Amino acid sequence: MRKNIVAGNWKMNTTPQEGVELARAVAARRGEVAPQVAVIVAPPFTHLSEVVRATRGAGVSVAAQNCAAEAAGAYTGEVSAQMIATLGVEYVILGHSERRQYFGETADVLNRKMERAFEARLVPIYCVGESLAEREAETHFEVVRAQVEEVLFSLSAERFGQTVIAYEPVWAIGTGRTATAAQAQEMHAFIRSVLAARFGHEAADECTILYGGSANPGNARELFSQPDVDGGLVGGASLKADDFIAVAKSF
Ligand code: 13P
Repeated sequence: MRKNIVAGNWKMNTTPQEGVELARAVAARRGEVAPQVAVIVAPPFTHLSEVVRATRGAGVSVAAQNCAAEAAGAYTGEVSAQMIATLGVEYVILGHSERRQYFGETADVLNRKMERAFEARLVPIYCVGESLAEREAETHFEVVRAQVEEVLFSLSAERFGQTVIAYEPVWAIGTGRTATAAQAQEMHAFIRSVLAARFGHEAADECTILYGGSANPGNARELFSQPDVDGGLVGGASLKADDFIAVAKSF
């Protein structure tokens, strides 16, 4: 079912102690956010356990930023979806552009990660988005269509119904240059039309599609007022509880 979600992707920031403090501050102010808006924090792996504890019963869910493509075994340095789920984590961000760009994540890897996430009953937040060069070359619709098709089209209707999508134009991530509300709406509506061709209009309409890329308290209200923008995946602004809560209050 289509939900409003504000998720904070902390990326590789905060010490475990700072992370717990941030999580506590978000939990303490969660009551200011409308109850139907899901509030999610995504700390580094090392903090997950403590952050789950710090947010328990507060109406704040926890996401991991990644999971392994394999279920278990000799994969030094990897963390499995099952391990993450066992901690009480509910979501996992997959296919973030930083993972695609710096860690070479391909559609094949992401298909396997999606499979592992569903097996572990984690809800995937699957990220798509074009680079600046791709937008300037006006290939952004094709690029995003391919990212949607090559990973989401093989899902069953049931699994698709549980998937959250995040559109994050790479040129807007960490740059302070947000997509305009019109650009976000245009791409979100396009993603929904691509999904409708595979899963039907009703299922596409029910899918939660978040916007990410320099979302902050100053621009969230306009972004979230767009009919196809169901919330945000927030990076920098999620590292301050005040800003993150202000974004979550922007519906
Ligand atoms: P910023 O909000 O820092 O631009 O990061 C967005 C992002 O990548 C969230 O996943």
